[in-house]
Amino acid sequence: MIFTVAVDGPAAAGKGTISKALAARFGLAHLDTGLLYRAVGAKGGDAVAAARGLEPADLARGDLRSLEAGAAASRVAAIPEVRAALVAFQRDFARREGGAVLDGRDIGTVICPEAEVKLFVTASPEVRAHRRWLEVGGDAAQVLAEVKERDARDMNRADAPLKPAPDAVLLDTSDLSVEAAVAQAAALIESRLQGA
Ligand code: DC
Repeated sequence: MIFTVAVDGPAAAGKGTISKALAARFGLAHLDTGLLYRAVGAKGGDAVAAARGLEPADLARGDLRSLEAGAAASRVAAIPEVRAALVAFQRDFARREGGAVLDGRDIGTVICPEAEVKLFVTASPEVRAHRRWLEVGGDAAQVLAEVKERDARDMNRADAPLKPAPDAVLLDTSDLSVEAAVAQAAALIESRLQGA
């Protein structure tokens, strides 16, 4: 079975949590594509060379989840040659036998427009900043400013900007528990699997 679930949306909307839960529930492989950009940003130096030479060990670094790594990822992600270098790996993953969930910014629009299920997971900037702040601590106002700055950079870049695919289902998690959000997403997948 080839079955791709594309989960896109802004930082801290719940994409990762939802994607992991969906993958476990339906027995699908999961790829956090943000990790690829984080690893490129964390390597430093020439980002295009880093993207072309990305290796599994680069993805295992312990420092990729920080706010700084997220900001660096967002910057290198605006470079078209960096994105191009990462396309084939993501497409192969998406169309692997057995099915896959990929979460990111451009999965439903660019990487896998033929995905069987497309979710656009979002939440208000305030809710997302609060969730991030619970994880990382620090100055709450600054976390909110950084969330907004990253949104603006991801949405306004010329190449593969963050936006919902026309056929994506919107899931606003601002007022949803994790369980409720996963249940809604799972119901959508169930219905598409039955139709497939
Ligand atoms: O999902 P994340 O916060 O780990 O992503 C980090 C950055 O990587 C994000 O701000 C933009 C970039 N990114 C991207 O451009 N395209 C993707 N498919 C995933 C992430």
